Amino acid sequence: MGRKGYYLVFEGPDGSGKTTQSKNTLEYLKELGLKEKEDFIYLREPGGTKIGEQVRMALLDPENADMDVRTESLLYNASRSQSTKQIVMPAVDAGKLVVADRSYISTIAYQAVGLGMPIDQVEQTIMFAIYNFTPDSVYLFDLLPEVGLQRTGKDKDRIEQRDTVYHHRVRNGYLLYARANKDMFRIFDSTPSIEEVWEQVKLDLDNRILEEWFERSGR
Ligand code: TMP
Repeated sequence: MGRKGYYLVFEGPDGSGKTTQSKNTLEYLKELGLKEKEDFIYLREPGGTKIGEQVRMALLDPENADMDVRTESLLYNASRSQSTKQIVMPAVDAGKLVVADRSYISTIAYQAVGLGMPIDQVEQTIMFAIYNFTPDSVYLFDLLPEVGLQRTGKDKDRIEQRDTVYHHRVRNGYLLYARANKDMFRIFDSTPSIEEVWEQVKLDLDNRILEEWFERSGR
């Protein structure tokens, strides 16, 4: 049986504007008369649950410089497992729209490709963590790392502090995964202004995502 709700994910390198665009989406949903919690849910990764937010602090703390790469990968998945079971699956089952800032695809880009870990092993761990519950659609906001890292400012977390070569690998990881999973992805060039990118996002929400979700959920 198909899903009643819809799981939409905002992805992209640091400073790509995905968080701003996901917040714009929430505002737009409210303008349409839809209600947060009742109709749609917002989630960020890592985090989104009490346990996940604790895991997030450990992951992003620059003092944890000696964190092992597999520990890092498993912690992202630990946060994700909790939010998938506690938030995403019940919301989609109840016919709601889940708007998520990041997902397992970040782990493919930042850990598997970014840190050069065996992609098949990372993917297996991910699927275990997310109960195989993958997004319906992923918006990828693509941007050159040099531009993105300037936008994030001086106060950088443990991952943002990594060098530009790493962030180029992350970007390539995203693009490779998107190319291999074309049906799931919609890529936006994030170089133009936030307003210009938002026009593109809004168009796709109207023409595709909301229509599909309304049909599924009977709204
Ligand atoms: P945020 O800045 O979008 O809140 O994400 C926090 C940082 O965590 C960001 O630098 C990307 C990184 N990250 C990973 O490395 N792997 C993951 O699986 C996720 C979800 C985020």
